[in-house]
Amino acid sequence: MAEDLSILKGSKQEQYESILPQIEGLLTGENNLIANLANISAALKEQFNWWWVGFYWVQEDELVLGPFQGPVACIRIKKGRGVCGAAWEQGKTLIVDDVEKFPGHIACSSASKSEIVVPVFKNGTILGVLDVDSERSAHFDETDQQYLEKIVALIPHN
Ligand code: SME
Repeated sequence: MAEDLSILKGSKQEQYESILPQIEGLLTGENNLIANLANISAALKEQFNWWWVGFYWVQEDELVLGPFQGPVACIRIKKGRGVCGAAWEQGKTLIVDDVEKFPGHIACSSASKSEIVVPVFKNGTILGVLDVDSERSAHFDETDQQYLEKIVALIPHN
């Protein structure tokens, strides 16, 4: 089981290369969804210290707040609403450099300036999304997309 994470300083890619196998280790042999989503959120928060990082999970026609790290957040998001609902509807990762310019952005916190939302797939169906918010504009890029998509693909589905 988990011991303390090793938190590496370095480029964004180096940080992902360091945290990715550690997240894989945290998930190995554990299929409890809440535990796994909680540990992924905690590991990413500890490595990158983003403003907010966590999951929304599909429940009927809504996304419902799941495990996260950061300030309290809005609980329910309809399909197509905000960045999370748009990523769910479009079935793809969305990177928003300036959330104020995103039509329908849901401002859970006025501190959030940029955002990336990564869908979690199982057999082509979206189970939920990983949402990351930053207080810096244009904080997220293709490197984040590439690694965060790898990380959510590690989530065991049962
Ligand atoms: N900003 C998101 C809502 C979730 S919070 O950022 C945690 C959105 O527009 O979907």
